[in-house]
Amino acid sequence: MKKKARIAVTRKLPATVETQLGILFDSKFNLDDTPFSESQLIRAVNWADILVPTVTDKVNAKVINAASPNLKLIANFGVGVNHIDLEAAEAKGIQVSNTPDVLTEDTADLAMALIIMASRRLGEGERMVRAGNWTGWTPTQLMGNRVSGRNLGIIGMGRIGQALAKRARGFGMSIHYHNRKRLNLKIERELKAKHWESLDGMIANMEIISINTPLTPSTANILNAERLKRMQPSSVLINTSRGGLIDEEALVENLMKGQIGAAALDVFDGEPHVNPKLMHLENVVLLPHLGSATIEGRVAMGDKVILNAKRFIDGYPPPDKLILELP
Ligand code: DGY
Repeated sequence: MKKKARIAVTRKLPATVETQLGILFDSKFNLDDTPFSESQLIRAVNWADILVPTVTDKVNAKVINAASPNLKLIANFGVGVNHIDLEAAEAKGIQVSNTPDVLTEDTADLAMALIIMASRRLGEGERMVRAGNWTGWTPTQLMGNRVSGRNLGIIGMGRIGQALAKRARGFGMSIHYHNRKRLNLKIERELKAKHWESLDGMIANMEIISINTPLTPSTANILNAERLKRMQPSSVLINTSRGGLIDEEALVENLMKGQIGAAALDVFDGEPHVNPKLMHLENVVLLPHLGSATIEGRVAMGDKVILNAKRFIDGYPPPDKLILELP
């Protein structure tokens, strides 16, 4: 009988996904779900043919270079792969796959929810009630801003950016975007989206900005201190992508000085650490990286991991194999 391929899974996955993985592969699971240290990751890549990491693993060059020659696929559970050194993997002949599409709608839902939360001051309201500080309705209490009619600028108009644009249109917002490549005109027309060649120009004209681009060497710190300064004083910033896209210190400073109206963040630089200064700001909504956290989404992500791993073991390229883009 052919030996089953060895698969090392670094975090607890939905039960149905782990059951399937257990049937199809010689699987090692992380039973207590504690994030792996570097030495645990090295042990995993020494044992496995396929590694299934998540955003909480630093699959850096040291880990990749310590892998046994049997490790041939990193089947990431998630769409973002900024935690994996793709160049080191390529140099070692290790393929990398991810889980696109299946978390698009959930992440766009969350971005839309954050737009409303930050604009309507829902976080502040929730905190007030929970703290027992609500003394009753008043005509001027926690007045926010109506989202309908507002300019939304989307940085990164890939799958999630476009799914957010559709939702925001439904809320009566006008859609603007900046993307590495302009969308084709048919999609632009369908989304009624205005393309901005200049990111700086778009930022200065938006009331709400949502960042929906992957974190790569060319997008790291894309919202740097200088760009954040261009935002309108009452504007709102949403991040459901990765913390490293924004200069967090500069963001805090602008929020404190009222140079940016509010921010709603689902992701942070150096997660799970959250800049303590953010915690003390009222005009901020903070979530624990929940973008794709639906049962349906997480099971579908697991199904993608299984499909990528199975296809690879059967001798085909994984359907979601990443192609390393040259700078
Ligand atoms: C993703 O899929 O990139 C989510 O942020 C979790 O990693």
